[in-house]
Amino acid sequence: MQNAWTPDGWRSYPAAQQPDWPDAHALEQALKSLSALPPLVFAGEARSLQERLAAVSRGEAFLLQAGDCAESFHDFTADSIRDKLKVILQMAVVLTYGGGVPVIKLGRIAGQFAKPRTSATEEVDGVTLPSFRGHIVNDDAPSPDARVPDPARMLTAYHQSASTLNLLRAFTKGGFADLSQVHIWNQQFVADSPGGRHYEALAGEIDRALRFMRSCGVDLSGSILHQVDFWTSHEALILGYEEAMTRRDSLTGDWYDTSAHLLWIGERTRQVDGAHVAFLSGVSNPLAVKVGPSARPEEIVALCAALDPSRTPGRLTLISRMGAGQVAAHLPPLLEAVRAEGHPVVWACDPMHGNTFVGAGGRKTRHFDHVLTEIREFFGACRRAGVWPGGMHVELTGDDVTECLGGTDEILDHHLELRYTTTCDPRLNGSQSLDLAFQVADLLRR
Ligand code: PEP
Ligand code: CO
Repeated sequence: MQNAWTPDGWRSYPAAQQPDWPDAHALEQALKSLSALPPLVFAGEARSLQERLAAVSRGEAFLLQAGDCAESFHDFTADSIRDKLKVILQMAVVLTYGGGVPVIKLGRIAGQFAKPRTSATEEVDGVTLPSFRGHIVNDDAPSPDARVPDPARMLTAYHQSASTLNLLRAFTKGGFADLSQVHIWNQQFVADSPGGRHYEALAGEIDRALRFMRSCGVDLSGSILHQVDFWTSHEALILGYEEAMTRRDSLTGDWYDTSAHLLWIGERTRQVDGAHVAFLSGVSNPLAVKVGPSARPEEIVALCAALDPSRTPGRLTLISRMGAGQVAAHLPPLLEAVRAEGHPVVWACDPMHGNTFVGAGGRKTRHFDHVLTEIREFFGACRRAGVWPGGMHVELTGDDVTECLGGTDEILDHHLELRYTTTCDPRLNGSQSLDLAFQVADLLRR
């Protein structure tokens, strides 16, 4: 299979969730233009990420994968990119201290534009429309015209990804990610928000640790603590786009999907004989697969065989997204089956997608308590099985939105109307995200 693999080979497999592009000529033109554009990431970077993930698979690091459910063409500003990065960096410092291991920072960003949908149509104010599939495909405005898939959007997605990545690289290498600075932001969160006060003790410990390092002569503004490595990821859903971004690495001769460092396969497209698995099996990037409560052990073992035949540490991350209350019943047989086959996967937890419901006002939402409960259950199941709970995958924004319920600054049902701006799933806001990081840091310490 590996020898015969080509970037367009997926086309002879059933491909779920692909848009019905109405204009074949426009599609061909867009894909042709994309395939001539420069790669967004370099293969060597994807290999470095895989090495970090290999450390996670050995229990020597923790993965924090976070960002929007769907990036938007409308909400695209330097401030929102900066604020999202800021929250992720803040969470990472807290988790690093709690876990006593490096935290790998992986954004759902700079390419997270495509959305799988359960139904091909949706009802908005009593009118049935084709579903919104993410800005890389169509627009979210509730009109039939806006919902027509337009291949030129793939080029816009590419260019927005390029500018986002450019800014992320500037921020993470240019001083914005300075450890002392990130710690000051955390202290501000603890001091200023009513919820933050619960975390005074832990923030105080981090402060003493930093003072200790300074006293020992460690230069906290030196380059090691002044810069961070930050990686990008998205769901590899629209296979034409991913194929056009796939290039042969000139150093190794291997194929890489240069649209992001890591690509993942969603819960709805992980059919082992489907096009998404066929496509990603041949690229050398590190990969992830979402695993929901319907997954059977033999299915997951077959996916591991297809995506990680040579059992390479760091190659494959399995992201459990069972839902609170579902973990104990569904996850342990999967942990066991994968271990029995000898696949050195990273196990991470997405506590968002199994916990979505419609709130009283008709908004899709999630409750902070369910998110935290699923993470606790995940840690419990992993620990009972002797498996390292390797990471968490969350949908968040740095903006002060009111999309998820609960948290220590409690968001209530009637607050959802105030600042609900996501184009897809509800995200944790900045303070809920830090709340979660402090709670998970506590879990990591035990
Ligand atoms: C997502 O991550 O936004 C998503 C659609 O997840 P899943 O495939 O787990 O449902
Ligand atoms: Co989502």
